[in-house]
Amino acid sequence: MKSFKIALYPGDGIGPEVLDQTVRVLEAVESQMKTFTLETTQFPWGADYWIEYGQVAPPDFLDLLRPFDAILLGAIGDPSRIPDHVTLDPLIQIRQRFDQYACVRPARLFPGVPCPLTGNREIDLVVIRENSEGEYVNNGGRFKAGAAEEFALQTAIHTRRGIERILRFGFEMAAKRRQQLTMITKSNALRYGMVLWDEILEEISPEFPAIRVDKQHIDAASMNFVRSPEKFDVVVASNLFGDILSDLAGIITGGLGLPASANINPERKHPSMFESVHGSAPDIIGLGIANPVAEILSAAMMLDWLELNTAAECIRRSVESTLRQGAATPDLGGQLNTVQMTDLIIKNLEI
Ligand code: NAD
Ligand code: IPM
Ligand code: MN
Repeated sequence: MKSFKIALYPGDGIGPEVLDQTVRVLEAVESQMKTFTLETTQFPWGADYWIEYGQVAPPDFLDLLRPFDAILLGAIGDPSRIPDHVTLDPLIQIRQRFDQYACVRPARLFPGVPCPLTGNREIDLVVIRENSEGEYVNNGGRFKAGAAEEFALQTAIHTRRGIERILRFGFEMAAKRRQQLTMITKSNALRYGMVLWDEILEEISPEFPAIRVDKQHIDAASMNFVRSPEKFDVVVASNLFGDILSDLAGIITGGLGLPASANINPERKHPSMFESVHGSAPDIIGLGIANPVAEILSAAMMLDWLELNTAAECIRRSVESTLRQGAATPDLGGQLNTVQMTDLIIKNLEI
């Protein structure tokens, strides 16, 4: 029997609500399949931890996470109590220090889910976000604080190695899907970083002759995500552009209650991390109505990464059939609460 060690990081807001329900789904699959076991350890980091200990996570949090096969994270952020850049720091550090450079964010319009766009839409795309450098590096400073001449410097770092590896990851993903890759740029204005992205795309594309390649500026791509999302297959973007486009991809496919995300270290030198695209949703915290699907689908991505593909597929099939039946939490226009939605997903599991 295969056994895996999973670190659970519930976080803040609706993070613990959706993670608890996801663990129920994982336990149901585990006990019905009897081919693997997940040994979970929960870490109580986040805003409450900060109130108690004056820090959002202990200083050695990366060492604590390193021995795990995977990390399953709920959501972080409690902006009314703690500045986001403080609470979110461990999340960014996990992604960067564990070299989880490929952030994979699929967005598909499931049958039965209302789409905010007009017309009959078939949306099935995946945003591949560079997750280890770019606009998110901790590089800059604040100067002359409080003075009239105060300034802040925040400089992105785009490396040849970083761009090459995420583009190759995107090409390989496209080869397994509909053979199309769109790279997001803004080289008409960002003449250093984004011009380097453009040049490396030109260099690498010939290695993948079967893949149709195009590039779009981030502004045009945002428009096209709304105008003709069905035209996208694999979309590769820098850290910040990928962040923004993945929320947009989420809302056009039914909202942030649905899209999952994986932060992958493809070389498997460090643990990878799985989490919803959404945040801690302070506007619905404690109401018990958060949609658990995004987190449940993130757990399915984790099972795939652990090569438990049958279990992953089983969860995805159940989510799809549950949505097709019209089961819905309030974000999808329904009445079900978080637990009731999860109950149905567990009931619809077909092992
Ligand atoms: P958000 O994703 O938390 O919420 C955006 C909107 O989507 C809200 O109206 C929310 O109610 C809704 N929503 C999100 N998830 C939902 C779900 N599962 N079910 C139903 N509705 C859902 O974004 P925000 O409000 O901009 O950010 C809130 C906090 O989360 C901030 O502190 C932010 O920094 C943080 N954040 C964290 C992560 C993360 O942990 N990975 C991601 C994004 C934002
Ligand atoms: C996400 C989030 C994070 C990001 C924030 C909370 C730091 O928006 O995971 O998409 O920008 O990466
Ligand atoms: Mn985001």
